[in-house]
Amino acid sequence: MTDPYRRISPMAQTYPASDIRKMFNIALNYPEAVKLTVGEPDFPTPEHIKQAGIRAIENDETKYVANAGLPDLRAAIAGKYSVRWDREVTADNVMITFGAMEALTLSLDTTVSPGQEVIIADPSFPNYLGQIHRLGAIAVPVPVTEESGFKVHADDVRAAVTKKTAAIIINSPSNPLGSIIDREDLGQIADLADEFGFTIISDEVYDEIVFDDATFTSIAEVRPGFDRFLVVGSFSKTYAMTGWRCGFVIGPAAFIPPMPLLQEGLTSSLPAFVQEAAIAAVTGPQSVVAEMVSSYAQRRDLIVDRVNAIDGISVLRPEATFYAFANVKDWGMTSWEVATALLERHGLATIPGSAFGPAGEGYLRLTFAVSPETIEEACRRLEAFAATR
Ligand SMILES: Cc1ncc(COP(=O)(O)O)c(C=O)c1O
Repeated sequence: MTDPYRRISPMAQTYPASDIRKMFNIALNYPEAVKLTVGEPDFPTPEHIKQAGIRAIENDETKYVANAGLPDLRAAIAGKYSVRWDREVTADNVMITFGAMEALTLSLDTTVSPGQEVIIADPSFPNYLGQIHRLGAIAVPVPVTEESGFKVHADDVRAAVTKKTAAIIINSPSNPLGSIIDREDLGQIADLADEFGFTIISDEVYDEIVFDDATFTSIAEVRPGFDRFLVVGSFSKTYAMTGWRCGFVIGPAAFIPPMPLLQEGLTSSLPAFVQEAAIAAVTGPQSVVAEMVSSYAQRRDLIVDRVNAIDGISVLRPEATFYAFANVKDWGMTSWEVATALLERHGLATIPGSAFGPAGEGYLRLTFAVSPETIEEACRRLEAFAATR
């Protein structure tokens, strides 16, 4: 008998499986469960964006287009971020990608070689691990604690830097932590990048889902002329466009030219009609974003207040995103055990904190991009669990 695995590369055999996906698959067996699992807006894509996509299909914009993306979309994104960051961004600084996911792939491919190290926060978005693994690079975690407000601190980053550090992935605002890295720490991380010559890949897909009581700073804003960064952005969360798969990288002009070449062999180009919809998103009314963010803010307050009234579970008030990272250590079980028991006994699906790294043990990620009624029902189920455990 031949061993089928002999044909599968070691990289593929050892690709780190995401526990988010594992929990999601288990939850499929509980169709009636209340779900606080999925990290996407519950709003439909705004009408004017959908219409732009439909018009583009009707106009036969259904052919291959430039690897780097439609010039008009690159220019529109450049225009938006020049204003947001108060620094010059041109179309040459922008690469259009299949979601932030491919933006991360291209950013890592462009800056990291096999055997080099990439610093990431622990807990963090699990796909970073797989992407670093694919490259044959090594992920170096920096633990982030509740005691420090779930924020990455520059001192901890400094302690993780070695001669092999090629990049750091920062994610502010953070999935799953809902926190924002302080401007001072961001500046110090930029100084470290200059001192040691590594690149900052800054995953800023939640840059607009920030609540009134918080201020978000992009790595591009830390100081004029700083250019060791690649900002990863996306239409998925801001404009409720997860399924359209439109993301981008913004970086110094020297970093961008390899990306269209890599794109050619990966996906060639993002569909033109998707890019037309994205142009409508950037150039159309931004009130649609403000309305969604204000709704997330209300739901954040609801979930935080309700959860903090339950015995044995507590949660910091997230400054941004639509995730709350709740501490369940007092329940004396692993986060996987808590998540499984909640699902099996009370029909409530959550994501165990350990899915985001070892430092996530003892926490549950609760998504509040769901209706207030769903949040209320989920909290009743958490109460029932707390009472009967
Ligand atoms: C931190 C973070 N980065 C990247 C992504 C991927 O986003 P996209 O849909 O643009 O690929 C997500 C999606 O959940 C995310 O939470």
